[in-house]
Amino acid sequence: MAKVFVTQHIGDAAVQRLRDAGHVVIYRDETVPMTPDELQTAVRSVDGLVCLLTDRVDTAVLDAAPQLKMVANVAVGYDNIDLGAATRRGILVSNTPDVLTETTADHAFALLLAIARRIPEADTFMRAGKYERFELFPPLLGLDVYGKTLGIVGMGRIGAAVAWRGALGFGMKILYTANSAKTAVEQELGAQKVSLPELLRQSDFVSINTPLTPETRHLFTLETLRQMKPTACLVNTARGPIVKEDDLLTALREGVIWGAALDVFEAEPKMTAGLAEYRERLVVAPHLGSATGETRRKMAETAVANLIAGLAGQKPPNALNPQVWRETSR
Ligand code: DGY
Repeated sequence: MAKVFVTQHIGDAAVQRLRDAGHVVIYRDETVPMTPDELQTAVRSVDGLVCLLTDRVDTAVLDAAPQLKMVANVAVGYDNIDLGAATRRGILVSNTPDVLTETTADHAFALLLAIARRIPEADTFMRAGKYERFELFPPLLGLDVYGKTLGIVGMGRIGAAVAWRGALGFGMKILYTANSAKTAVEQELGAQKVSLPELLRQSDFVSINTPLTPETRHLFTLETLRQMKPTACLVNTARGPIVKEDDLLTALREGVIWGAALDVFEAEPKMTAGLAEYRERLVVAPHLGSATGETRRKMAETAVANLIAGLAGQKPPNALNPQVWRETSR
């Protein structure tokens, strides 16, 4: 029996599963994240931690938790956790890949279509009673999607799922960047691995699907955006700080690119000053990539399953530092 702390609302079913596994669960059933001080206090005597991407599990938190054996993040992205520090302390960390891949790719594509066809602007236009007559060239002319070039920055699971939608659903040519060549998308979709400048130069739509790391922070600055076509759109469903929002706003205002769709923000939940007021060819959503009831429940279940395995001395299916398990299970 271990003591587990759940930092925020994850649903009763997932919490019950932890209890059924015999653990003592302290469930903070709230939707507002704790302050760093509160989190440090809460982890003092716990063996396991279930957290969300809004909980920063840094060295201060890890140092405050001498008994901690495992952190289960309810997200695929884990830039909120200092993985290196956890590994050095022999603490297992897991995430929730796979269960959210298709849902997040659906959302990326929904945003791509929404920006290309100016759906939010059209909705506002109608509701404001501005539709007076059909015109051949109306004020809200959009962009074609079918047959265009889609550049995927980061061909991981989600990037590949976006590529599939683009290639098979919309006849798009797929370009991508990644650390290594991805045979499946190359063979099945004809995708081509190119350098980032080449991808930016050729793509009509650029979808960011790479994790946030020191290398990808502010990957998209004004300089990067200037390498895109003036008729191109940027879609970010990955992590906000990959795009320098001030620069994006300048790029939109100056017509450096045609449009952007953002699901994530640099200083979430806030938007950079000026962005909220900028309505033309900019679609924004509050980090909804994986936000369907089914998928969010699966994410909670996956995180809990990982934690139960890790606390039982088994290898968590989605361990990010399995070497810790190998060391401790010897
Ligand atoms: C994640 O899992 O990293 C997403 O951002 C939220 O689903």
